[in-house]
Amino acid sequence: MSKFIIRGKNSLRGTVNVAGSKNAALPVIFAALTLFGSSQIIGLPDIGDVDIALRLIEEQGASITRQGSVTYINTDRASYKKPSPELVSRLRASTYLIGACLSRFGRVDVGGYGGCAFCPRPIDYHLALCGAMGALANGDSLTAARLRPTVYKFPKPSVGATVNFLILAASTDGESRLLNPAREPHIDTLVEFLRSAGAYIERDGEGITVRGGTLHGAEVTVRGDAIEAGTMLAASLITGGGIRVMGADPAELSPFLAILRRAGATVDTELGITVRAEGLSPMLVIADAYPAFPTDLGPITAPLLAAFSGGHVIDRVWLGRYGYLSELAKLGVSYVLGEKGAKILPSRLTAGSAAATDLRGGAACILAALGAEGYSEIHSAETVLRGYADLCKKLTALGADVEYSEI
Ligand code: EPZ
Repeated sequence: MSKFIIRGKNSLRGTVNVAGSKNAALPVIFAALTLFGSSQIIGLPDIGDVDIALRLIEEQGASITRQGSVTYINTDRASYKKPSPELVSRLRASTYLIGACLSRFGRVDVGGYGGCAFCPRPIDYHLALCGAMGALANGDSLTAARLRPTVYKFPKPSVGATVNFLILAASTDGESRLLNPAREPHIDTLVEFLRSAGAYIERDGEGITVRGGTLHGAEVTVRGDAIEAGTMLAASLITGGGIRVMGADPAELSPFLAILRRAGATVDTELGITVRAEGLSPMLVIADAYPAFPTDLGPITAPLLAAFSGGHVIDRVWLGRYGYLSELAKLGVSYVLGEKGAKILPSRLTAGSAAATDLRGGAACILAALGAEGYSEIHSAETVLRGYADLCKKLTALGADVEYSEI
């Protein structure tokens, strides 16, 4: 157990570089298990979730070497082993073992997937897709002597199930097609990686076509983390500061930046991203699948609304993703939860003690603490460090008073 101790109200200033995107890095790590030979991944972020993902593929016989910003993965000695339930229970992206192990070994034991539990996170699309590609379910195991190509349509876009589709289809002889896929930009990194491994992948307005086969080792650079960028920009606004965020693609953040602009902020994306505001008018945040406002920035925006003129946060991806609000309330955030979403009232942020209920909820509490006068404690810091690299160091370099402490 660990906590952040934060003395708020320091205006953040300076420049910060975001790390590689967590949600782009994780699919690539699992996909590397399906490639024959050695791969290089450049820019894996130094976060808890990446460590667990690497340990999970190491269990399957991958050998991993990290040198500076490059991670080398060799799979010459890969062989199937039942994934350790303890590791699987700590990472939602361990669902990518389904695609990776079925592709590489023709079998996988499924279940017990962990990660942020802000609402039920079913895997029915993943399992139905595996069935369509010829996998047979037997208790908690899936086996497939030979995968077959398929044409498949998800009822709604799912990032995780689209990742598994790409991993499976890229290793399967023949042409597969997925309709209604997720289009989140972090999937682009996986597409680049699989293309460099020899797969043919084309995307159009309706879906993704993949022509797969035996894949060789590949190379990719992980894109910058847009959610980290949004978090840092929100920290800047909530403290009345002015920071420059480098390394993230402004286009990926455009729904977030557009809402800030509409509320009266000055947004500049000429060199990195800067956002400044004297005040912000009420904001309406409706999170949905890409290209809409990203659900992972919903919790991040909530304390910002509270600190300025209030507004609404409505999440249409994760219908119950509001659990973090009861922790934000301990830092002064007033809200009313209705059937359709949360109304955030203009509030005076106050120092207090709160806990990270999940990764982004924890980051939201840090933002509220940064905007409150006095000392706050945010518990379960390790939950936040699962997804934000060098968070304390970066915030401190920007002028925040933040300390990490093991309990
Ligand atoms: C990914 O989760 C991200 N995680 C999440 O980020 C993010 O919130 C989410 O995508 C949406 O953008 C990673 O990339 C590791 P989904 P994932 O499958 O893949 C429904 C963060 O904070 N669904 O796109 O698990 C589901 O209930 C994390 O970084 C099914 O019904 O999400 C949801 O309503 C949290 N059946 C919607 O689809 C399924 O089999 C989207 O979920 C799969 C999904």
